[in-house]
Amino acid sequence: MDLSSDAQMASAALPVDRCSIHERRRLLENYVLAARPVVIPDAAEAWPARRRWTPPFFARHYGELTMTIAGRRWSLAEYIAQMQRGPCDPPLPYPFNFDMQQHFPELIADVQPQPRFGRIDRLNHPLMWHSLLRGTRPHELFFGGHGSVFRQLHYDTLFLHGHITQILGDKEFFLYPPEQTPLMYPSAANPKLSVIDDPAAPDPQRFPLFAQARPCRTMLKAGETIFFPAGWWHYTRVHGPCIAYGGIGLTSTNWPDFIRDNLHHRIAGGTPRAKRIALSAYGAIAGAAMNLQESLLRLRETNAAPT
Ligand SMILES: [Fe+2]
Repeated sequence: MDLSSDAQMASAALPVDRCSIHERRRLLENYVLAARPVVIPDAAEAWPARRRWTPPFFARHYGELTMTIAGRRWSLAEYIAQMQRGPCDPPLPYPFNFDMQQHFPELIADVQPQPRFGRIDRLNHPLMWHSLLRGTRPHELFFGGHGSVFRQLHYDTLFLHGHITQILGDKEFFLYPPEQTPLMYPSAANPKLSVIDDPAAPDPQRFPLFAQARPCRTMLKAGETIFFPAGWWHYTRVHGPCIAYGGIGLTSTNWPDFIRDNLHHRIAGGTPRAKRIALSAYGAIAGAAMNLQESLLRLRETNAAPT
């Protein structure tokens, strides 16, 4: 890690606001609708995961699970043992992440109630076509150790919002708003990924514009949740043994881009035009119906508010 560039970045970075999950209206209007990231200190306070999800719990019950990362096959038990041993050189590979629906379906109950970032839950709405999520992982589990860095500067697939909750340990987030996309060096092959190989110490000759980028930066502590809106570029660093949960969000603000991105994938995949027109019509009609439902709920909340 280049300490000089780290110090430079710290001086240029902006903090991330904080908002309680119980300040519902402020959360929706100041952060979700305004498309700003926010740290929510209490979104997971009732989650059983906070008590149950420890390194020994995963080593005992899921230690046999394996993942090949950077060409080496790791069992979860091995990874956790190294994670608890302390710093190692090179640092543990990251992200060491699993699709919970595939590997830990019984643990999804431990991350309830899920934080809601809209007045309705579009992901589980009766009008939602689940095939549009295209294999996205709605529930993801991350492990990491001292010095693990997810260097791939990117924004999330299908323009979904993201939320991460630290169950164990701290994780540092660097977030760049969509307006800074011209400074992010998007890849020609996949414009959601940057070609900058190490955003913590970028090569100034190859990526001079990145020096003008100004991230929001925060250290997410155990028990805290961060919400980051669709289209925000991000990368993360871990500073010790870490277990984190990741979820996705779909609201009125990312619905149009979510549908558009699905259409782009279908164009690239050669889906017939008639099917694309049907998807486009679905996006407009279902989006309008959900928007109306949210407006009615908002009206009801406004009328119910004490004067
Ligand atoms: Fe991401």
